[in-house]
Amino acid sequence: MTDPNFVIGRLVIQEKLHPMITWSFRNSGLSVDEYKRYRSRVAGYVDRLKKAARQKDYTVHETSIALPGDRRIIRDVDRLVDRLRAPAPLLVVVGIGGSNLGAQAVYEALRGPSAVVMGASNVGELLFADTVDRFKFSHIENEIAIARRQKRRVILNIISKSGSTTETIMNAELLVKKAGPFQPEDVVVTTDEHSPLWELAKKSEYHVLAIPKIVGGRYSVFTAVGLFPLAIAHLDVAAMLSGARWAVRQCLGSLHSSPAVKSASVLYHHATHGRAINDNFFFRTDLESLGKWYRQLMGESIGKEGNGMMPTVSIGSTDLHSMGQLYLGGPQDKVTTFIAVWGQDDNMRLPKKTALGSLVGGVIDGRSTDEVLQAILKGTQAAYARKKHPFMQATFSELNEFNFGAFMQWKMIEMMFLGKLLGVNAFDQPNVEEYKTVTRRLLANY
Ligand code: PA5
Repeated sequence: MTDPNFVIGRLVIQEKLHPMITWSFRNSGLSVDEYKRYRSRVAGYVDRLKKAARQKDYTVHETSIALPGDRRIIRDVDRLVDRLRAPAPLLVVVGIGGSNLGAQAVYEALRGPSAVVMGASNVGELLFADTVDRFKFSHIENEIAIARRQKRRVILNIISKSGSTTETIMNAELLVKKAGPFQPEDVVVTTDEHSPLWELAKKSEYHVLAIPKIVGGRYSVFTAVGLFPLAIAHLDVAAMLSGARWAVRQCLGSLHSSPAVKSASVLYHHATHGRAINDNFFFRTDLESLGKWYRQLMGESIGKEGNGMMPTVSIGSTDLHSMGQLYLGGPQDKVTTFIAVWGQDDNMRLPKKTALGSLVGGVIDGRSTDEVLQAILKGTQAAYARKKHPFMQATFSELNEFNFGAFMQWKMIEMMFLGKLLGVNAFDQPNVEEYKTVTRRLLANY
């Protein structure tokens, strides 16, 4: 009773879904029969997703799957990018949650930290203003001042679907007042068509980019929300979209080999069998923001009506030295997704004979950082397997736009399947709205 497309304990199957990404479900702790049961429960939904992937009319929530193939979106973004990208500007993204996490994840992994302006850079750079924090704000104000001294163009990209998120509106207002003036041609507003912010932007002669109304914040990275800032930073958004389209084919092409059906089944199984924590363990420090993007995707999509999983983000090997004991010896309430990047040239290698190597028994002599990190990951996984802690693994052979697009699309489709299995609406966020309304009421009555 083996399914060649899935993995059970005795079979060592590593799926090659693309030369650039490899996934393994070998230690997922799910039997073939259990998997088949879950697969049959989402079979009908696959047809709905396939149909949604072909539609570009944005009438059902799932049509976010069609975004990477929607030429109108990329055309509108391109048109504006052509006008604003040269000379390499500093663009401040003012947005929070689904309105900034996707772009920040891609930018920080492919360009480096988003907290400082590199200055000498001849490509556009991004800063992100999300929460209202005077320390962070002063830092951004400072970076803008440096960019202005360097005679760089500074652009504000105010992103808000609703157009009424307190933090975003306050940051936008503060930036205009304290780091301005901004000419109307240096302000880009990305919002739902005809939202109050849209109307105000039009009146102020700002540039406007539309978000399809049906596409929620956490599913919007392939709209202007993610594409515009990333394109300003000279990231290859076309490659990102092509990675996303590839993932759609992988996830919806065949039910038997769909990675999204598999990962959703694994997560669902464990969530309903006492392991409601999904730890996403990234063995690359620059993927922490990707972890935060996924955390929002999972948290807001399925955390409702008493259901859900708690998504956590760990960084290897750093967090092994703070959380490893808990993960291995604590409560058996987690299912882990390891994410690693191996394969690129690693020239950070120690010489064959080192001065300090003998302190660790000579095992690091002649080794590269990747080799050592890989050994740590393998050691960790061996310990997890011994304790029967379930885990999956994704390996990127390279961090690039294509793979990012593929990974993000995969995870968004996974979340739709997971919502289906749990019987919750994966597209709304009623309780986020709740706190927003109360916040506004409290502020009004201060
Ligand atoms: O995913 C979501 O819907 C939320 O996290 C929103 O993205 C976040 O609250 C920001 O909302 P808005 O884009 O309306 O400013």
